[in-house]
Amino acid sequence: MCRFVAADLHRRDRIVRLGDPRKVRRREGLRALSLGGVENLADTALAESGAQVADRLGRPLRSLRLSLIDMCNLRCNYCMPADEYIWLPREDILTVDEICRLVGLFTECGVDKVRLTGGEPLMRRELVQIVERLAANPRISDLSLTTNAVQLGRRAESLKAAGLGRVTVSLDTLRRDRFRQLTRRDQLDQVIEGIEAARRAGFEGLKINTVIMRGYNDDELIDLLEFGKRTRSEVRFIEYMDVGGATQWSMDRVVSRGEMLEKLEARYGAIERLSANGSAPADRYVLGDGTVFGVIASTTEPFCRTCDRSRVTADGLWFLCLYASSGIDLRTPLREAAPPEEIVSLIADAWAGRVDRGAEERRGLSQRGPLYQIEDLRKDPHREMHTRGG
Ligand SMILES: C[S@@+](CC[C@H](N)C(=O)[O-])C[C@H]1O[C@@H](n2cnc3c(N)ncnc32)[C@H](O)[C@@H]1O
Ligand code: SF4
Repeated sequence: MCRFVAADLHRRDRIVRLGDPRKVRRREGLRALSLGGVENLADTALAESGAQVADRLGRPLRSLRLSLIDMCNLRCNYCMPADEYIWLPREDILTVDEICRLVGLFTECGVDKVRLTGGEPLMRRELVQIVERLAANPRISDLSLTTNAVQLGRRAESLKAAGLGRVTVSLDTLRRDRFRQLTRRDQLDQVIEGIEAARRAGFEGLKINTVIMRGYNDDELIDLLEFGKRTRSEVRFIEYMDVGGATQWSMDRVVSRGEMLEKLEARYGAIERLSANGSAPADRYVLGDGTVFGVIASTTEPFCRTCDRSRVTADGLWFLCLYASSGIDLRTPLREAAPPEEIVSLIADAWAGRVDRGAEERRGLSQRGPLYQIEDLRKDPHREMHTRGG
């Protein structure tokens, strides 16, 4: 019997038929593999080839963002503005075994960077166990965590011991009143303690991600950079994006990279741009005193052309683009115990057909407002940034 996995339905050819690997292998898209090929993967215990899958724009499948849980202990108003949320059914959430198996299959297709996110990943009870198991996969060269850090203080050490490589903390303000207003929680002290704890635990290359919004924190660029210097963290300023729960988004509230750099130059003098680093989203800059910081111009200068990222939700839906309207169900084949090579074929095939350039397409719109209104988000929680994973 044929089983179907409904893929991103913009295009008919993304419907992949499971259960007939020969047919799958014949599919045109699989020829886009730049090394090895899925035949090799399927025929040779998968792992031998270390194949790299490229999409239709030549972008490799390398970086996976894995949402471990859709729940969060903050309510940032650009992400979770509503009073109530419908959470993913608990029974749908991937188990630890399913997560590790799925990530293993992605690494067979070339993924070597895995970022754990959410919702708030520190709320996932088995986080340390997940880190430990993923860290044991030799194909993963970069295992990182994006967190609001509220609970990092008490878990930083065990995460380091479990093999977590890097930590990025999201922090948008250093002012208690603003933090409370933005997140609807009074937990700035815990976040700062979390950052200190990560440093004490020995995490190198700490990053602080800050979404800059006009009229909210665009007067804190310098304070945040100075905070980064004190905590030996690299601050990355992110342009406000019209994704998921950003129902209040408007172009007027976006502070562009150019404007951010102008403000910083007015205070620090000439700023030098460092050379670009492949698919990394941040442009990196250095101040005269050697302080390095980044700017992610995801709204005004999107980086779709080099985007090697995709996202898996906590319930196993795979999104090829942050802006994609639907995802590919990987939980069903996992739970139905599909042979690994079938799931690898499914992944490779879908990636080989990828043409997504969501952020660039949004930039091309003449009239631009929020991507979704609250009522649209209620229809499908997978549209939420806290479900899809940032
Ligand atoms: C969805 S959160 C999940 C991980 C964790 N809870 C955290 O906040 O770091 C991941 C990242 O997405 C970012 N994000 C959410 N909504 C955004 C928006 N509208 N524009 C830009 N970044 C956004 C957050 O600032 C955060 O850095
Ligand atoms: S998921 Fe992250 S960005 Fe969204 S509300 Fe929670 S802490 Fe804020």
